[in-house]
Amino acid sequence: MLNTLEGILKQDNFSSSDIVKLLSSDGEARTLLFRKSAEVKEKYIGRKVWFRGLIEFSNVCGKDCLYCGIRKGNRNLVRYNLTDDEVLEAARFAYVNRYGSIALQSGELESPSVTGRIENLLHKIKELSNGELGITLSVGEQTPEVYKRWFDAGAHRYLLRVESTNETLYRKIHPGDIKHSFSRRMACLKYLQDIGYQTGTGVMIGLPFQTLEDLAGDLLFMEEFDIDMCGMGPYIEHADTPLIKHSGSLLPLKERFDLTLKMIAIIRIMMKDINIVAATALQAIDPIGREKAVKIGANIVMPNITPGKYRDSYKLYDNKPCTDDSAEDCQSCLEARISLADAEVIYGEWGDAIHYKKRLEG
Ligand code: 5AD
Ligand code: FES
Repeated sequence: MLNTLEGILKQDNFSSSDIVKLLSSDGEARTLLFRKSAEVKEKYIGRKVWFRGLIEFSNVCGKDCLYCGIRKGNRNLVRYNLTDDEVLEAARFAYVNRYGSIALQSGELESPSVTGRIENLLHKIKELSNGELGITLSVGEQTPEVYKRWFDAGAHRYLLRVESTNETLYRKIHPGDIKHSFSRRMACLKYLQDIGYQTGTGVMIGLPFQTLEDLAGDLLFMEEFDIDMCGMGPYIEHADTPLIKHSGSLLPLKERFDLTLKMIAIIRIMMKDINIVAATALQAIDPIGREKAVKIGANIVMPNITPGKYRDSYKLYDNKPCTDDSAEDCQSCLEARISLADAEVIYGEWGDAIHYKKRLEG
């Protein structure tokens, strides 16, 4: 096993079966994988980490994904929508504290008023930060026209997780209606890339019915699509969702966690200069989960800067960390944690994916 793995890690391109072997590695072989991914990160990115201040500005959602705690059908939570002033205040906090960027995230809604509101917020955030704050959007599927308007208003990165690139699995974790169409999801990702966004995607790891071959397919898709950013996290069941009925068939949480670290390590080796997020969901399983991800390949952390009183209501999954903390708490806590992971937070820079710049240069 060790010899096979050493051989695989010497290659430049992985096949699906190579990836499955890497995902199955344990003991010394696993250590070897993590050593290699850490080396790649050090060489191409350095020991740097950039912050994206995360503003979860609304948990109102028009969709009903079977895994998600803020799905429309869940009546067991208080719905909220930050006022524009609250969003701008959070953005100002990020700017004053020299976070290079923020990420605006919410449930998925498509409407002219949502489009206009976000466009207006983008303009105002650019204004209050003298054009200095980078802005990532993560508000789901929209038409190409809407994506273009937001791009023109100043958003330059977009995160749209595909959740799974296996269409059969995708259909099992979403309702079977046109609002949850796999092909639209894929089309949206392409619109974003064509418009010129730094485009990010990702999947959940450890979903019911998911195989290692599925996960290998996910990574090969990301490589083929030529993404700039990747955000992957473990699937964590939520009691008030339909998928909870499959919780008996899931991998133990620790294994989902370990598989996520391996996915991060492998994509770092495959796509050396992309930005990789250390997902918050990792920390719901292991108190130093995000730091472990930073050590083996991730270079982006998203401190939550949503005003404290709303945080409890943005629970996508059970056991979400930091919901009791304030933005200031998250910053000092994360700063200390990142330096424990032998990395350094870079302030006042956008921290764009090197991959994106190279992609533009052709
Ligand atoms: N477990 C882990 N991640 C989840 N997400 C939604 N629900 C869950 C869950 N139960 C993730 C999805 C979505 C992102 C915002 O949160 O991948 O794209
Ligand atoms: Fe909100 Fe899926 S439930 S986007």
